[in-house]
Amino acid sequence: MKERHISVLLEESISSLNIKEDSTIVDCTLGYGGHSSKILAKVKKGFLFAFDQDSEAIEYSTNRLSKIGANFTIIKSNFVNLKEKLNELGVEKVDGVLYDLGVSSPQLDDSTRGFSYHEDARLDMRMDRENPLSAYEVVNNYSKEDLARIFYRYGEDKFSNNIAKKIVEYRAKKPIETTLELVEIIKTAVPMKFRKDKHPARQIFQAIRIEVNKELDVIEPSLEQALSMLKIGGRVAVITFHSLEDRLVKNYFKKVTNIDEKVKGLPNIPEEYLPNFKLVINKAIEPSQEELNNNQRARSAKLRVIERIK
Ligand SMILES: C[S@@+](CC[C@H](N)C(=O)[O-])C[C@H]1O[C@@H](n2cnc3c(N)ncnc32)[C@H](O)[C@@H]1O
Repeated sequence: MKERHISVLLEESISSLNIKEDSTIVDCTLGYGGHSSKILAKVKKGFLFAFDQDSEAIEYSTNRLSKIGANFTIIKSNFVNLKEKLNELGVEKVDGVLYDLGVSSPQLDDSTRGFSYHEDARLDMRMDRENPLSAYEVVNNYSKEDLARIFYRYGEDKFSNNIAKKIVEYRAKKPIETTLELVEIIKTAVPMKFRKDKHPARQIFQAIRIEVNKELDVIEPSLEQALSMLKIGGRVAVITFHSLEDRLVKNYFKKVTNIDEKVKGLPNIPEEYLPNFKLVINKAIEPSQEELNNNQRARSAKLRVIERIK
């Protein structure tokens, strides 16, 4: 097996879901089964449904979970199809939903998948290898304007325009085939003094990955479905890894827990105007120093949790 994935905020996220023996829990991002293993061990009389769009992660985790219990079903799908897929299986209501967003360490470290700017591979970055759009198409076919836009929006890179320009100039001569070829092009667009603190390709690779997998587009629609399926007292927990993801989750949770402006400040707010959800914790939970010492990947992680109250 490739290098192991160390689950982030494992204890914190599992305990935040308030799992009972008979709970029905959905893990939207199965990955290598770290969180799902803990969930399955807790739901002895309940059930675990787990989503992933990556066949390799599913194959590994099916085996891992089978050693713990048989009361689980793995669904190979994007979690944007959460409600539809669960409804097809006759599931209407659940007690908890977990998201541990982004990619896993084995995906990043597998040099054949083209996620890493440290290893040479064909430009790919698809979590779902059946997805027709890969990093190759983005880098070689998107217009200069579209490249600059996604680099700025999803990578928040201040050299976005210049990097897009260098890419377009280079590919006029030959297609950009590999990750390290792209890294070299990015380096020519970033002045030396800005290359010291972090790898010059980090933000750009993040941006391309988000575009290829439409990572930000699926979060809110899926959260909306998850909340609609929660029983009273049920919870949704989300672990994010960068500010763009966290902002989306934070704003969405704020929207659904806010008291309607029309009645805010009234001494007795009519029941129907009270929100259906409350934040379980007001501030996001971040990894402990101990976790950070053991796992670099946890460094920007944040956990937010919400509960249905009516
Ligand atoms: C950070 S890893 C999860 C790791 C897992 N919690 C563990 O402890 O082993 C994220 C996983 O979610 C999957 N994933 C990310 N976005 C997804 C989406 N929109 N739909 C389905 N799976 C997704 C990725 O393929 C990856 O395997």
